[in-house]
Amino acid sequence: MMLTALEDISKNHSPKNQKNMTIPFINLDRQHKNLSKEIQRAIERVANNSSFILGNEVLEFEREFSSFIGTKYAVGVANASDAITLTLKAYDIGHGNEVITAAHGAFMTVESIINTGAEVKFVDIDPRTYNIDPDDISKAINPSTKAIIPVHLYGQPANMTAIKRITEDHKLLLIEDASQAHGAFIDFRRVGTIGNAGVFSFFPSKNLGGWGDGGMVVTNNEHIAQKIKMLRDHGRSDKYTHKIIGRNSRLDALQAAILAVKLPHLDQWNARRREIAHRYNNGLKGLPLILPEETQGGKHVYHLYVIRLKMRDALKQYLEKHAIQTGLHYPIALHKQPAYSRPIKQEESFPVAEACAEEVLSLPCFPELRNEEVDFVVKKIHEWHT
Ligand SMILES: Cc1ncc(COP(=O)(O)O)c(C=O)c1O
Repeated sequence: MMLTALEDISKNHSPKNQKNMTIPFINLDRQHKNLSKEIQRAIERVANNSSFILGNEVLEFEREFSSFIGTKYAVGVANASDAITLTLKAYDIGHGNEVITAAHGAFMTVESIINTGAEVKFVDIDPRTYNIDPDDISKAINPSTKAIIPVHLYGQPANMTAIKRITEDHKLLLIEDASQAHGAFIDFRRVGTIGNAGVFSFFPSKNLGGWGDGGMVVTNNEHIAQKIKMLRDHGRSDKYTHKIIGRNSRLDALQAAILAVKLPHLDQWNARRREIAHRYNNGLKGLPLILPEETQGGKHVYHLYVIRLKMRDALKQYLEKHAIQTGLHYPIALHKQPAYSRPIKQEESFPVAEACAEEVLSLPCFPELRNEEVDFVVKKIHEWHT
């Protein structure tokens, strides 16, 4: 999502006067107001210690995040895109290798694979969950395949039982892109803990977001955690020794301090996102729309509340006319992105991903969204249908 999508148009918000009600797609201001004192204290602490790079703030947050997620190690990096690239590099994946991922989702997953030198092998998605289709994964595996990166898209856990079985049968690496699913569960385990490693984004609008960029890799593999620590810090093994070629991809200490203030609220925020989603579901049921479906054993955390309909663009326009902001996640199937135009790949087609690109619409969904705002969106969608 572009940062402009975060613009707050809710300044004139007036719940009592529905005529003037404007509904933002996301409003971070409401969250920050509730936490501002604690965050200010954290920022002052970092400033007073002048501990801006790595150090205790990052170490502490890594400890807290790994204990929250349920892995032995967490390594803070500059963003989730780097988290994916550095994890693949730590596992020596690069030129000559293929990595499987879904044809519907955020382009950054694809770009991060390509940045290792590896090739992307797309597969289609399950139309019920919008997540990678395990049946299609099996068909895409070939001798060059080294890893699978399922994305827990929109906050919904991918079918990890089936995917894990495939990776075990074929001896492939499993790296979860949990950038949209902080705190989501599958079979009582947090996402990010099932594969060899999991990655998270702390982009401001994520379920757990910083005041800038940030990312994390979680794993139970000590060797991989150590290698990613080196890769994020110019390949250093100590201050003066650069053992491997890395880069600068450190999680900023200020971001770590802010994220540590927010982490204890995450489960409660996710519970509120689920409440909002269920309110939408109740309000919209019966209309000719496809509503989000939760998978058995999974606990969706609704980073995005996404509906699907043929007349998506018309509804989007109608809602915008009534000052309701919406989003498109995502309007171009990944294999059709210009940056990915490779002659041989253009012959591939992924019908579900292609249809979703034209039909999905994200409605406002963030913990501080008020019930009357949800009801207003529901009312307007009913009006559009009549
Ligand atoms: C599924 C997914 N993967 C990766 C990324 C990249 O995250 P970052 O912006 O932290 O690099 C995003 C960000 O939008 C995402 O949604």
